[in-house]
Amino acid sequence: MDRARLPVSPFLHGHKAEATMENRVTQISREDLEDLREAFNKIDIDNSGYVSDFELQELFREASFSLPGYKVREIVEIFVAGDTNKDEKISFEEFVAIYQELKSKQFSETFKKTITRRDGIRSFGGTSGVSSEGTQHSYSDEEKVAFVNWINKSLAKDPDCQHVLPINPDNESLFTSLRDGILLCKMINLSQPDTIDERVINTKKLTTFKMTENLVLALNSASAIGCTVVNIDAHDLMAGKPHLVLGLLWQIIKVGLFADIEISRNEGLICLLIDGEELDHLMSLSPEELLLRWVNYHLRNAGTDTIRNFSEDIKDSRAYFYLLDQIASHEEREHKMIVKIDMSGLNEHNLDQRAELMLRQAARLDCRQFVSPHDVTSGNSKLNLAFVANLFNMHAGLQKAQINGNDIDTAHIEGESREEKTFRNWINSLGVNPYVNHLYCDLCDGLVILQLYEKVNVPVNWKRVNNPPYPNLGANMKKLENCNYAVELGRDVAHFSLVGIGGENLNEGSPVHTLSLVWQLMRRYTVLVLSDLGDGEKVGDQIILNWVNTTLSQKRKDTQISSFKDKLISTSLPVIDLIDAIAPGTVKWDMVNRGDRGVLKDADKLDNAKYAVSLARKIGARVYALPDDLVEVKPKMVLTLFACLMGHGLKKVNR
Ligand SMILES: *[C@@H]1O[C@H](CO)[C@@H](O)[C@H](O)[C@H]1NC(C)=O
Ligand SMILES: *[C@@H]1O[C@H](CO)[C@@H](O)[C@H](O)[C@H]1NC(C)=O
Ligand SMILES: *[C@@H]1O[C@H](CO)[C@@H](O)[C@H](O)[C@H]1NC(C)=O
Ligand SMILES: *[C@@H]1O[C@H](CO)[C@@H](O)[C@H](O)[C@H]1NC(C)=O
Ligand SMILES: *[C@@H]1O[C@H](CO)[C@@H](O)[C@H](O)[C@H]1NC(C)=O
Repeated sequence: MDRARLPVSPFLHGHKAEATMENRVTQISREDLEDLREAFNKIDIDNSGYVSDFELQELFREASFSLPGYKVREIVEIFVAGDTNKDEKISFEEFVAIYQELKSKQFSETFKKTITRRDGIRSFGGTSGVSSEGTQHSYSDEEKVAFVNWINKSLAKDPDCQHVLPINPDNESLFTSLRDGILLCKMINLSQPDTIDERVINTKKLTTFKMTENLVLALNSASAIGCTVVNIDAHDLMAGKPHLVLGLLWQIIKVGLFADIEISRNEGLICLLIDGEELDHLMSLSPEELLLRWVNYHLRNAGTDTIRNFSEDIKDSRAYFYLLDQIASHEEREHKMIVKIDMSGLNEHNLDQRAELMLRQAARLDCRQFVSPHDVTSGNSKLNLAFVANLFNMHAGLQKAQINGNDIDTAHIEGESREEKTFRNWINSLGVNPYVNHLYCDLCDGLVILQLYEKVNVPVNWKRVNNPPYPNLGANMKKLENCNYAVELGRDVAHFSLVGIGGENLNEGSPVHTLSLVWQLMRRYTVLVLSDLGDGEKVGDQIILNWVNTTLSQKRKDTQISSFKDKLISTSLPVIDLIDAIAPGTVKWDMVNRGDRGVLKDADKLDNAKYAVSLARKIGARVYALPDDLVEVKPKMVLTLFACLMGHGLKKVNR
């Protein structure tokens, strides 16, 4: 999204710049300007103040149902050509200028249709188009309703949430209900079980301070499961800023909805192989692509037309009726449940009523979630994707993996390792574009790696980078060039140790080589904050170790560590002591297993580790390491955890 993160345009914030804007747009109506601002903010989801040509293409892809493809490409080209200072980023001012040039009737109509496509988009932040913060944001009422219902259902039985549940979907109470952080923590834990140690959530006597602690815990935990939280903090959540709250909720919900749409978690997905396709290719698909395949698999079995997207193609409910029918028949054959789908709704001419009849059938499978009839008929792709993902999770309706009647040996299909997952979550939490679903194949065009360089202060010359869409012929050459550049930057600028690593290794998705580079990037990212705080001195392991030991002994703790491989780390006691040293009063000592002279049972170690990781996140450390990394003393992850705590400790001292 922000390949070239530049300072936010002064235009968006400065009053002086604002005045210039007023002059230049005298030819453009106030109303149009507001629409443009709204559109711009909608595409600029990361609030960078700029949109990239990627993001524009996204917008016009959405608009494409009313414009032919060539026209879309033409417009995007004009936009890119209009990027006057060639920084590959388009500011709002540039955006308006180009719009003015293009203001043909057809174009502006398409444009308006795109940005107001979903009824119920609400605006707030003042009517002037520019709120006190300089930006105006809108949010979708449909999303709010969908998420509220999902939360009501998911947490209905949770004793810690009864003070806010059920949330009324018809007013703004979602935003106030999230203020104390409890709901968010619970939703995160549902999406990725065991992410948050229950004992760390403040549930009683909630002062502003305690609520803030919960929100910080939620944000750091969300980041650890791969949500992008770079432009949002506890204050935004406390203030209940709708677009930020909904953006975060969607990311959290999506992690949960997509968790099992993966071949190592559901071997039935192998049924979705098409003739002549390699398993590796199927395994490289994104959850969205797999869901589309899944729907089409059932539609083919039903002998009806397939679909290409979750917007235009599902509006008439036809695909959904057949999908539900296929699923229900499968469940009946497997003797799981007997529900006969009533298909008579297909004869209903009014599409809204037809969608309602379809959803009543979904309800019989306990799957009426995320969409209203109107979300179906308006083709809201985000909510329809959620509806389908939930259907898949509840009733995939897939046979055991077979090809031509023979069982396939699936023993060799391995899921992602813990380390791979942690790296991937780290990468995604930084907001790279596109989202990384598979560590190796999604990094093989070098683009994500190059974005990571920028996050760790290694400047990237984007003029040297080949961007998609790649040509049909020679696409891999373009990707390889990017990878070569990525290796060159690592070697020459970042001074990474890349002996024996070439661009071709990244391009092929070689695990060893990719992991090595990604680890060095993550390490640099982790210690960067320390160099910022310290005297710019290069931070090595020894400095972190010394700081840990010194801090522990100054606070008269009896733990010390000799290295990041120290066996004592498996008890998490040094970590918990350190947290107590940095943030006195946070540790509840009756929760900590001390064991007999440092000897702890495995279960007690894990218990301590969960507590330690959640505590660290609660006091503000963005920890990606997992409890098992502590128990097994994985030196890399242990290093990142201590470095994070050190960064946090120093920040407190400097304040
Ligand atoms: C969805 O697919 C249909 C064809 O099946 C196509 O006409 C339509 O443009 C697509 N819509 C989007 C938004 O991609
Ligand atoms: C959530 O709560 C609202 C208000 O009580 C209710 O109308 C809605 O049905 C609930 N949703 C679920 C899924 O329980
Ligand atoms: C929303 O409606 C409920 C009643 O269903 C009410 O208790 C609550 O105060 C309302 N919240 C807001 C923010 O208006
Ligand atoms: C988090 O999830 C785990 C496993 O599902 C569960 O045991 C624990 O109670 C949950 N904690 C919270 C805070 O919901
Ligand atoms: C603490 O760290 C310092 C510096 O690495 C080391 O000299 C010392 O031996 C460590 N303490 C223990 C108990 O290992």
